[in-house]
Amino acid sequence: MGFIVWGWIDGGEGMTKLKHKLRAKLTRGDIPNLNGCEIRNINTEDGEALAELMLNAYKGTVDYEGEDIEDARDEVRRLSEGEYGEPLWDCSFVAEMSKNMVGAVVVTLDRKENVPLLAFAMTSPDKKRLKVATTLMKKTVNSMIDAGFKETIAYVTEGNEPSAGLASKFGFKIEDV
Ligand SMILES: CC(C)(COP(=O)(O)OP(=O)(O)OC[C@H]1O[C@@H](n2cnc3c(N)ncnc32)[C@H](O)[C@@H]1OP(=O)(O)O)[C@@H](O)C(=O)NCCC(=O)NCCS
Repeated sequence: MGFIVWGWIDGGEGMTKLKHKLRAKLTRGDIPNLNGCEIRNINTEDGEALAELMLNAYKGTVDYEGEDIEDARDEVRRLSEGEYGEPLWDCSFVAEMSKNMVGAVVVTLDRKENVPLLAFAMTSPDKKRLKVATTLMKKTVNSMIDAGFKETIAYVTEGNEPSAGLASKFGFKIEDV
């Protein structure tokens, strides 16, 4: 599920996958009102729910490599410990419906450049294609602008069509060299 690298990566079982680096200029937008959906910042008690959401969201996508809940917990731990750059909690949000976490966007400060990195965007399988990620992304983008940033980067695996579609809606362009 980790996708914070760029280039050809080992996809397991002798397979390699291509990850693109993308960049977008930040543009402020209105936040849509999703019926019954509450958006809030991530807090320290969200770890377990984030791990469950991560596992469920990625299962069946090209980024899924057979991970289990322990792997997802480790990934959340690595993320919060700064493995992918210092987490920008003010720019990271979860979406809840009936108190259940149905989506999240987690942002870190890229380790190489002073630019926010969209480390994870995920929506639970039963809520996909309902604009949960769009709504979270708009909150995230506005908060990045509030924090003084002008652009953001992300990494998308070749063949991850939902991810590529979401990214293109937010003006991301591939900048592999
Ligand atoms: C990528 C992901 C977060 C999108 O979440 P979502 O809440 O379903 O997204 P939205 O409903 O807001 O859709 C926004 C846009 O993304 C694109 N998109 C979403 N799902 C898509 C799909 N199955 N196929 C093609 N494009 C898709 C579309 O452009 C869509 O806009 P549209 O519905 O107006 O056409 C979700 O599919 C997911 O959790 N995927 C697994 C984790 C992952 O790969 N994360 C991205 C890593 S950067």
